[in-house]
Amino acid sequence: MSSKQIQQRLNALRDEINAHNYLYYVLDNPEIPDSEYDRLLGELSDLEQQYPEFITADSPTQRVGSTPLDSFAEVKHEIPMLSLGNAFSDQDMEDFDRRVREAVNKDNVDYAAEPKLDGLAISLLYKDGILVRAATRGDGRTGEDVTLNIRTIEAIPLKLRGQDFPPVIEVRGEVVMPKAGFAKLNQQQLEKGDKPFVNPRNAAAGSLRQLDPKITATRPLSFYCYGVGLVEGIALPKKHSQVMEKLKSWGLKINSESQVVKGSKGCLAYYTKLAAKRNNLPDEIDGIVYKVDDVEDQNILGFVSRAPRWAIARKFPAQEEMTKLLAIDIQVGRTGALTPVARLQPVFVGGVTVSNATLHNQDEIDRLDARIGDYVIVRRAGDVIPQIVSVVQSRREGKPRRFHLPATCPVCGSETARFGDEAVTFCTGGLYCEAQRKEAIKHFASRRAMNIDGLGDKLVEQLVDEGLIHTIADLYHLDVERLIRLDRMAEKSAKNLINSLEKSKSTTLARFVFALGIHSIGETTAQTLANHFLSLDNIMSADEEQLLAVPDIGPIVAENVITFFKQEHNLEVVEQLLSAGIIWPKIEKKSAAQQPLAGKIFVVTGTLETMGRNEAKAALQELGAKVSGSVSKKTDYVVVGENPGSKASKAEELGITLLDEKAFTELLAQ
Ligand code: IVH
Repeated sequence: MSSKQIQQRLNALRDEINAHNYLYYVLDNPEIPDSEYDRLLGELSDLEQQYPEFITADSPTQRVGSTPLDSFAEVKHEIPMLSLGNAFSDQDMEDFDRRVREAVNKDNVDYAAEPKLDGLAISLLYKDGILVRAATRGDGRTGEDVTLNIRTIEAIPLKLRGQDFPPVIEVRGEVVMPKAGFAKLNQQQLEKGDKPFVNPRNAAAGSLRQLDPKITATRPLSFYCYGVGLVEGIALPKKHSQVMEKLKSWGLKINSESQVVKGSKGCLAYYTKLAAKRNNLPDEIDGIVYKVDDVEDQNILGFVSRAPRWAIARKFPAQEEMTKLLAIDIQVGRTGALTPVARLQPVFVGGVTVSNATLHNQDEIDRLDARIGDYVIVRRAGDVIPQIVSVVQSRREGKPRRFHLPATCPVCGSETARFGDEAVTFCTGGLYCEAQRKEAIKHFASRRAMNIDGLGDKLVEQLVDEGLIHTIADLYHLDVERLIRLDRMAEKSAKNLINSLEKSKSTTLARFVFALGIHSIGETTAQTLANHFLSLDNIMSADEEQLLAVPDIGPIVAENVITFFKQEHNLEVVEQLLSAGIIWPKIEKKSAAQQPLAGKIFVVTGTLETMGRNEAKAALQELGAKVSGSVSKKTDYVVVGENPGSKASKAEELGITLLDEKAFTELLAQ
């Protein structure tokens, strides 16, 4: 290729890549898949490597510079970067509109309404269409030169599109970190053992403050423009909204929620609309900016101190506030999980007064390093549960001690424990712990456990509250006489309940083990334990080694079983249940002939017509098969019912035998 041909090819590739960038970032309408884009970029990069003399600074390959800076240079803003006055209520907005109308002497004023993005203000200077300098706002008059970092943001064009842009134009806008990118970045921070960022704005600011642009390049930053500063050579349109459209045509991204509205009524309607959308927008916003759309009117209105009189920021209720952590209380939940709850100095945030927030578990307390007396940042976004996002370390007074969850349950005094690498701390009190008792009784009575008809959740609460029962064993000492003394309990229902209780005494070992509500023992595990150990005595006396020898029983289940049957009060309850007359058929060890599916792994997906999914599982287990929840290379058969999910297609991919309902029932019949 001649040098001219090379240059032509380079230019063609750059134009094509820039065009796709424009489609992707500005129009939000990509035309080619990422792979094709990467191919173009690869070709350009290869050609440039071969002919480095033709590399230009605005080439799409030149976004990430190689040498870190020692410090950021100062940049003086020829036209100061201003701030905005705030409006907090509808009344404030009406007052603003009235002041504007009076000043420009019009009955009706159009406003350009835009989301107020929660990022940081940046000025981009383009000379002859080339990005030559990017600066932070700083104090409004002097900022920092962050050109190298800004160049790494793909949503910002290094070169403007088209021909009709002014020879000198300073574009202003907000660098943001979209919520999705923020969540991902924070997850990576945690995985690396680094501190997560408090919010997207801090993460964006921290990313731009890096002296090494290579680090900035890894951060998911984006940019929206919302105005212009210095403009030379060509006059811009006479409406703010038209200027924005022009900027868009030159390749700059503007926010798609922007809209021109009429008068204060239009402003209020836009506020309502955007507030409802707020939590579903891709970027964090903290309000709305309304700008007089007519630039001549803007000039008439001018400035007061450091804010324009032609624009105002209508703030949404703050989603973050600072308050004091007064105490940490411990709640014991239905599974025995200890939840630390922060008691806060009441604070108005996200539209409600918040005085409690969950601290989740010990890991979360450690991560935040939250100590009683600390000042904390509370966040409540939309209708989401309030969260403590960080501790204001600089405001810590004295030397408060680190907080640890208690070693004994605050409700029943039993030991607390963490299992395996679970974050949750549990009370080991089980059936003995008052906090867990109601839930344990509800679980015991439930259909898949002891199946006690007529003993619903409400009645369990009532029975415990009235002191008629304390443990699941007490259920079998209830009588009609005492039951009818309860509110809303007729003799007939009382008799029915006693009958159901009687009936429930004939059960199976698996149901009984499941009904005890041992932590992490679900129906399937209970069945496995019953099949393997054959008797309750064997299960109760099994040691760790014996338990771990059972297929599908891991260390967590083993530990839970052992811990449960070590507690004196649990043994007492079991004893009482048995002496109340609970019985089950003796389990015989099945011969190999009775377990033709032993060692086979099945997955059941979709809806079966002739039986429920649990029934199908039980039937398979009866024949010795193992039923798994997910398809893997180890799966032998997948039973596919109506409307199967991704499991069926995955099985097909892996070449696993699929059984339709007919084939499945035939297999069972055999
Ligand atoms: S216009 C003279 N429009 O808010 C008008 N600002 O409180 C100056 N901001 O520093 C700004 N979104 O960082 C404008 N659509 C928007 C905005 C916006 C966010 C930020 C900007 C500015 C601050 C002013």
